Amino acid sequence: MVPKRLDGNGPKSYLLGGTVETARIPRTMALLPIIVAPDPRLKVKTEPVETVDDDVRRLMDDMLETMYDAPGIGLAAPQVGDSRSVIVVDVSRDKEDPQPIRMANPELVWESEEEGAHKEGCLSLPEQFADVVRPERVRVRYLDENNEPQEIEADGILATCVQHEMDHLRGTLFVDHISSLKRNMILRKLAKIKKQTQKKSA
Ligand code: NI
Repeated sequence: MVPKRLDGNGPKSYLLGGTVETARIPRTMALLPIIVAPDPRLKVKTEPVETVDDDVRRLMDDMLETMYDAPGIGLAAPQVGDSRSVIVVDVSRDKEDPQPIRMANPELVWESEEEGAHKEGCLSLPEQFADVVRPERVRVRYLDENNEPQEIEADGILATCVQHEMDHLRGTLFVDHISSLKRNMILRKLAKIKKQTQKKSA
């Protein structure tokens, strides 16, 4: 199995890419602009969802569509400028059927003592990757798209992905887990790219 990079280059098999695919997305869904670091909106602490209603379901679906389009394997609401506690993930492998998971108010109820380092990336930190140490296994409680409470135990890439996305709900990025030297290097690089892009479009 080829290791998949978190939030980075996710499954592509069901994406045709380009404008054709975009045109095929049902009108009920929308691609949302993804906020790129450094940006204060990525530092907000989100508010729990009261009920998973049509409005929250729509956010979940839009986030999934945005994530698949990027492509990535996880996305959190603050990355699209929404301050509700919502994340979506899909760590299915290429050629497998999509396995989207929609979570509102995800909450860590258990984590293993065993930790592991895995390479992470983030749609809000494009092209940047670093090894992050986290618990290998976690149990997470959340509300699904039908407002039903669920609990899952995750390991492997799903455990990494869910913890990474839950971090976003507290305003934490994967670079906050690495040395300040590496973090500043990455953030400076992104700020520079941002400046250049703004200059070009000005
Ligand atoms: Ni991320």
